[in-house]
Amino acid sequence: MEGFHRLNNALHCEGVSLAELAAVEGTPLYVYSAGTIATRYRAIDNAFRGYPHAIHYALKANSTLAIARLLRSLGAAADANSGGEIDVALRAGFIPEQIVFTGVGKTPAELAQAIDLGVRTINAESEGELDRIDRLARERGTRVRVALRVNPDVDARSHPHISTGLKVNKFGVPADAVRDICRRFAGREGLEFAGLHTHVGSQITDLDPLRRAAATIVALARELKDDGITIDHLDVGGGLGVSYDGAKVPSADDYAAAVLPIVRDSGLSLILEPGRNIVGPAGVLLSRVVDVKDRPDGKVFVILDAGMTELMRPMLYGAFHRIEAVLCVSSSDEIVADIVGPLCESSDTLGKDRRLKRPQPGDLFAVLDAGAYGAVMASNYNRRPMPAEVLVEGERPSVIRRRQTIDDLLALES
Ligand code: LLP
Repeated sequence: MEGFHRLNNALHCEGVSLAELAAVEGTPLYVYSAGTIATRYRAIDNAFRGYPHAIHYALKANSTLAIARLLRSLGAAADANSGGEIDVALRAGFIPEQIVFTGVGKTPAELAQAIDLGVRTINAESEGELDRIDRLARERGTRVRVALRVNPDVDARSHPHISTGLKVNKFGVPADAVRDICRRFAGREGLEFAGLHTHVGSQITDLDPLRRAAATIVALARELKDDGITIDHLDVGGGLGVSYDGAKVPSADDYAAAVLPIVRDSGLSLILEPGRNIVGPAGVLLSRVVDVKDRPDGKVFVILDAGMTELMRPMLYGAFHRIEAVLCVSSSDEIVADIVGPLCESSDTLGKDRRLKRPQPGDLFAVLDAGAYGAVMASNYNRRPMPAEVLVEGERPSVIRRRQTIDDLLALES
């Protein structure tokens, strides 16, 4: 059984009633559907079948151990963006050869960690980083597989905060510098040029930027070959968006149909780093109404027990998430409300001007499509403990992360 659906007007995750789950586990609560994660992972894998590819799930989207383990069991490899994510990947059972290490500011300690482990590839961001990797590798008498991250100067047409492919962004090296850099570094004893990498942004719903970024690294791979530098893969990053408002967005098949014709002639294998597309629609954030406050202008504030500490996306990117009552009430009046959190700033708004049936304190709401960049971006602001997380498989809910306590929080302090 898959995903989120209504049974007698009550929202369920697979075979589990969300109202019953919240009654047992409390709120705020993240709930994930294992079936949805599996279906969405397989959709991407199937879309690229017939072409050599590896899906390195971007752990940054959601790295709760059980989610990482689930993806590994489905056949995914991992994309880690910090030393911490490398550790999580290992503890989730990924072997170093299944890990690519990405990130714009890898510290010497993180590079040493990745090199000592022997990760599949380090996606290198700059000449300085290539130099540091080379030095660390030679000190250890080893050679490190690197993929140079290319900044193709492509506008992802997503929110500026999560667009990374323009030349004014901090990521990668300019496309027109790649050939020269590779020529100069190709002879380094500590480096093996294994691939080219690009990632132009996240929540991309227009395939053109993804196509253009892929075309840029395919063309560069050809130039490198002319220079006698043979790589074995192209890493096109992540970025494929999801529908937060129900509008149609490109499918995994559409994505493959855009990218594969460009890549095919290169003969190089493909690395994909999807995050959001796999886990975003697989999670909801459950939260209870604490108060309902009428405004002098006739609008209403619905105050929830979750806010920017649990889900930062609306505040940070103006992101839209559908918010639904878990149990539909038909009797009450329709209102227009701002659905807000309990934190002491006005940015703490999960949904603006939403039309809904007037709720009561204690009613349960679900913030939809919160599986990616939700729990991982939660904070302890206002000394709020991190929410619990539950993974549902069919009829079976499992707590995969228990609710943090104030003691957990203070355990680090003197
Ligand atoms: N690869 C690299 C190098 C990345 O930087 C990212 C995401 C991904 C893959 C995965 O991208 P995805 O397939 O999930 O779009 N916190 C923001 C999103 C930040 C994305 C950062 N990089 C949000 O909540 O929208």
